[in-house]
Amino acid sequence: MPPIVSVRGVTRTYNTTGIPVQALAGIDLDVEKGEFTALMGPSGSGKTTLLNVIGGLDAPTSGSVQVDGQDLGAMSGDELSSLRLERIGFVFQAYNLIPVLTAYENAEFVLLMRGVSAEERRRRVTGVLAEVGLETMAHRRPNELSGGQQQRVAVARAIVADPALVLADEPTANLDSRTGVELVALMRRLNEEHGVTFIFATHDPKVLDAARRVVELQDGRIARDERR
Ligand SMILES: Nc1ncnc2c1ncn2[C@@H]1O[C@H](COP(=O)(O)OP(=O)(O)OP(=O)(O)O)[C@@H](O)[C@H]1O
Ligand SMILES: [Mg+2]
Repeated sequence: MPPIVSVRGVTRTYNTTGIPVQALAGIDLDVEKGEFTALMGPSGSGKTTLLNVIGGLDAPTSGSVQVDGQDLGAMSGDELSSLRLERIGFVFQAYNLIPVLTAYENAEFVLLMRGVSAEERRRRVTGVLAEVGLETMAHRRPNELSGGQQQRVAVARAIVADPALVLADEPTANLDSRTGVELVALMRRLNEEHGVTFIFATHDPKVLDAARRVVELQDGRIARDERR
C-alpha cells in the first residue's frame, strides 16, 4: 500500500519578520496507513509547521507533500479545502470548538458541510460521542464542559467523517496528566479498532509512551525516527 503521507525534501522558511527563519530544513518522511506517530522535539524545532504543511494549511517553501496519493502542491485552494474536509481530521491545542454550538452540533458541523443526510448525521454523531464517552453531554456547550471533555469533543469532531488521517498538535497540552493519559488511550483505541492514522506533536512523556513511532525533530530536521 502506498503511504498515507509522503513528505519529500520539504523546507519552510518564514519571512514574516524581515529576518528569514528556516522552520523546516529538509524533511523526508513517509507515514503508512494505520501508524500512530508522535512528533517530538524542543520548542521551535518545527513540529507545528510540519503538521500544518502535511494538513495543507501551509505550503512548503520547497519540496513536495502527498496525502492519500494526492500531491498537495498541484492542488487548487478549493481542492485542498475539500481534501481537508473529506480526508483529514484536525485536533488543535486550543480545541477550536464553536462556542455557541453544543458538543453534538460541534461534531455534526463537518458532516453538515459535507452535505451528509440528516439520518446519517444522527447515526454518526451519536456513535462518535459514545466512542469518546460523551453521550450524556451531547447537549452541553464547550463552556459547560471540562478541558478534557472539550478535547474529547475535538477528537469526536476530528473522526466523525471517517478521515484517513488525524493530525493533532499537542492534544493533551491543556489537560492534567490523568485526563491526558485517558485522551491518548482513546486515540490509541480509535487507531487500533478503526485503523485511523494519527500524527501528533507532543512534549508529554506519557503520550510518547503510547506512540508506536517517534519522530524527533531538531532545528527543522529529523534527528531520530524510531518504530517500536
Ligand atoms: N508565522 C511565523 N512567522 C515566523 N516564524 C515562525 C512562524 N511560525 C513559526 N515560526 C518559527 O519557526 C520555527 C518552528 O516553529 P514551530 O511552531 O513549527 O515549532 P514547534 O516545534 O511546534 O514548537 P512548540 O513546541 O513551541 O510548539 C520557530 O523558530 C518559530 O519561531
Ligand atoms: Mg508547536
